[in-house]
Amino acid sequence: MSTAAQPQAHPLAQIDWDHVEFYVGNAKQAAHFYMSAFGFEQLAYAGPETGIKDRVSYLLAQNDLRFVLTSSLRPDDAITEQVRLHGDGVKDVAILVQDARAAWKAACDGGARSLLEPTVLKDADGTFIRATIATYGDTVHSFIQRDGYRGVFAPGFVEERKSLPSRKPGLRAIDHCVGNVGWGEMDQWGDFYARVFGFSQLVSFDDQDISTEYTALRSKVMTDPRHRVKFPINEPAQGKKKSQIEEYLDFYHGAGVQHIAIRTDDIAETIRSLSANGVEFLDTPDSYYDMLAERVGRIDEAIETLRELRILVDRDDQGYMLQIFTKPLQDRPTLFFEIIQRKGSLSFGKGNFKALFVSIEREQEKRGTL
Ligand code: FE2
Repeated sequence: MSTAAQPQAHPLAQIDWDHVEFYVGNAKQAAHFYMSAFGFEQLAYAGPETGIKDRVSYLLAQNDLRFVLTSSLRPDDAITEQVRLHGDGVKDVAILVQDARAAWKAACDGGARSLLEPTVLKDADGTFIRATIATYGDTVHSFIQRDGYRGVFAPGFVEERKSLPSRKPGLRAIDHCVGNVGWGEMDQWGDFYARVFGFSQLVSFDDQDISTEYTALRSKVMTDPRHRVKFPINEPAQGKKKSQIEEYLDFYHGAGVQHIAIRTDDIAETIRSLSANGVEFLDTPDSYYDMLAERVGRIDEAIETLRELRILVDRDDQGYMLQIFTKPLQDRPTLFFEIIQRKGSLSFGKGNFKALFVSIEREQEKRGTL
């Protein structure tokens, strides 16, 4: 009667980053920090003046990056509770989908816990659909469908553009977003992204790869079929002293987003601009650069430039990549950013882990938490 059905593509097979929402104690001041230090522009605002009574949100953007900074205006709601427990941090890693209802249904069928059923929001700019599921800790993923929406961001937001006279670092887009989960929980969260999102594992490190004398972690990377969205998941591993992942879990009080890696097309220029704006980066032992040429072979960049800016380099069989990590972005040693430039490599800097952790341990030592 009918021809054989085509195998149905997973509703989350064609996705991309939409935005990241942070819950913070004082969104007005946080917005100023991300604009002045990281060169973001404010595009839109939501709050009492726009009909949102209990919170304020600022939409910051730069090229394909969209960050939303949200604070509560109440003493006793979920946003205030989240900030009390976790401090400032990432609440929602929101994913752009073609069909939010189908994405939400597939996720729930895969075992996800729903926090918001597909909800249609309308205003003069059209129709916007959002659904939300829970992931590790108190972190969530919203599925965003905006093909019927022409507005600046979402219903409830009004366009309100502001920029500050800081240097523009040329940040392009999110490369990957890393979650820290508890002891022995990496595999179950890897399975979660396989079941709920239809993701597969990109690459894996074991604690032999990512350990120093004092600290250790295990990590696996889950990704969609097109490799647009990459979610590395870390768990602490046993070392002589406290793992940096365990330090995160202690200060964040549970699992959460450890770092967001942001792509640039010219990392040296980006780091010069960010440094001029006052962004602080983790230092790297000078000896790292003495051994660099031998370790990574021929690269386009001058070693002396990389040494001056403390940029890390790693190579795999596809090419190489350059990366550097900021210091924590708030008082608690929790969330930080990575700046990354890829030159063919699809990796996450496995060969740099050792150098990075030596550097992180110096910071831990200063805080007395090693
Ligand atoms: Fe990373």
